[in-house]
Amino acid sequence: MAFDRSIKIAPSILSADFADFGREIQAIEAQGADWVHVDVMDGHFVPNLTFGPPAVKAFRPHVKTFMDVHLMIAPVDPYIEAYAEAGADMIVAHFEAGPHPHRTLQAIRATGKKAGISLNPGTPASAVEYLLDLCDMVLVMSVNPGFGGQKFIPSSVQKVAQVREMIGDREIHIQVDGGVDPNTVGPLVAAGADCFVAGSAVFKGGSVDNPAPYGENIRAIRAAAEGARKAA
Ligand code: DX5
Ligand code: ZN
Repeated sequence: MAFDRSIKIAPSILSADFADFGREIQAIEAQGADWVHVDVMDGHFVPNLTFGPPAVKAFRPHVKTFMDVHLMIAPVDPYIEAYAEAGADMIVAHFEAGPHPHRTLQAIRATGKKAGISLNPGTPASAVEYLLDLCDMVLVMSVNPGFGGQKFIPSSVQKVAQVREMIGDREIHIQVDGGVDPNTVGPLVAAGADCFVAGSAVFKGGSVDNPAPYGENIRAIRAAAEGARKAA
């Protein structure tokens, strides 16, 4: 996939019907999702448990766009290969997952997958300074990871601006995850983010049997994002 900074909406299937992932993925893509965001949680790095590699492997054939796998697990290095084999297009590890995020990014790149680094809300933007040359994406968490439906943390906007400045003209996406909706997305776009994860704001009001609200919700986030970009 060629790099560009167009606005990308990545619905998080954490807000999908857990008994029907295949059809949920097909529904969000049919309704305009650019990427499919998979939240992997280990009950240790974050206080919640979700998907192991076999689950991600089962999602893979349903994803026609791009699957970014957000690993909220520690340790992370022993599992990179398994998530790569499961079919992730991009693997995102947390800066805070261990003492060697540089090695982690090297390990992700060694699988041939795109590599991302994620920052918890309490971690400064400067954490990524010496990691950027190994990154295809920086994920700025705008809630504490672990659950969908939390309130957006406003200081994330300033962090996005700081990361954007550090990136310069390197081909690195900035993704924001947590509490993203049509109201919060504008300032994030103005600060330099291009990829937006949204769980509750995409899935609210819809279902696999009534997917039109997914499309309305995605279009509302995209319109607010593109409006902010035009105004910038
Ligand atoms: C939080 C996850 C998010 C979450 C976002 O730990 O990384 O991807 O699903 O959910 P919303 O959009 O509901 O805040
Ligand atoms: Zn996520």
